[in-house]
Amino acid sequence: MPTASSVSIDRRADRGLGRPLARDIRKTGIAPDHWYPLARARDLRRASTLGVSFAGEPIVLARTATGRVFALEDRCAHRQVPLSLGEVKGERLLCTYHCWAYNHTGACINVPYLDQGKGLPNGVKSYPCVEAYGLIFVYPGNVHAPGILTFPQITTQGNPAYRTRYLDRRIACHYSFMHENLMDMNHQYLHRSLMGSINPKALDIREGDGWVEVDYTFHRAAGKQPIGEKFMLGRRTKTPDAKAEAREDKDIMTIRTGYPYQTLQFWTAGASEPALDLWNAYVPTDAAQRHNHTFGLMSVRKPGVPGTIHLLWPFIVAFTNGIFGQDEAIVEAEQRAFDAQGRDENNEIFPIIQKLRHLLVEQGVPL
Ligand code: FES
Ligand SMILES: [Fe+2]
Repeated sequence: MPTASSVSIDRRADRGLGRPLARDIRKTGIAPDHWYPLARARDLRRASTLGVSFAGEPIVLARTATGRVFALEDRCAHRQVPLSLGEVKGERLLCTYHCWAYNHTGACINVPYLDQGKGLPNGVKSYPCVEAYGLIFVYPGNVHAPGILTFPQITTQGNPAYRTRYLDRRIACHYSFMHENLMDMNHQYLHRSLMGSINPKALDIREGDGWVEVDYTFHRAAGKQPIGEKFMLGRRTKTPDAKAEAREDKDIMTIRTGYPYQTLQFWTAGASEPALDLWNAYVPTDAAQRHNHTFGLMSVRKPGVPGTIHLLWPFIVAFTNGIFGQDEAIVEAEQRAFDAQGRDENNEIFPIIQKLRHLLVEQGVPL
């Protein structure tokens, strides 16, 4: 558990405050040299295909009869029709048009009407592909870049003390708005109808090569704690500011962008395991990167009494859906404002968000 006195362990990156960004953040493409979830595993059945995309690149995911998953460019090498319209037979993917057959490496391994003695044509591009945490991850970048070696680690996955909810939402905004929205807890006002009045306080900011993070603590200024929040994070009473300040054992929320992913963990005072562990990836789908597919795993620590989590779960789902709905509406409004103005006109004053913006620009690529 982080504490208010923790210090930066790597200041090499020290992203200067007030310094202008090197590039318009909304015209910055996400770096392809990372692993991105492109689908939920359950949406790709045996012997079938699923058409997805990464930043405008069409990709077909296929699961063979034996369960093997692979990812290819979603354009037949013959006439470029989507291979996702095709059929999986055994371990091969057959294009629906003239039945050219492909294997998991993208090689064309059969053309039914090819003249005897003629060589097979070139196949299509393949992508490294891994099924993990109930998601299908694809690596769309340069396979010789170091990013291929860094598969995301989600420590609460597989831990029976947690129950996980999948987030799977298509949101009409650039991925950078998603990072800023979650990391900037000063927007609790947006959620006043659901949460009442909450005062966040940033305790510490840390940063390093490829990441920034911030710790917050909160206190309730007015209103009642929503029941879904209480079930998820535990009961939190109204505490006067000065008292909360003085307490060493306050509740802590840590939000981190470890490029390109984002995590949020919430520790109740004194706990050694987080009550909430959220992992998110915001995957651009279109070439202009004005839309993203958000995949997330929201893991909630189960209460001590077995089975209780199932009773609480509908409240947790309803509460979080309400919050996500408000966030989704506001980030889409931000995207529309950007589109109308044609450039990023934000006047950001909060240090962690200034640092986050530098991080996203420095790690990203020009669009
Ligand atoms: S277009 Fe795919 S086989 Fe002809
Ligand atoms: Fe929010």
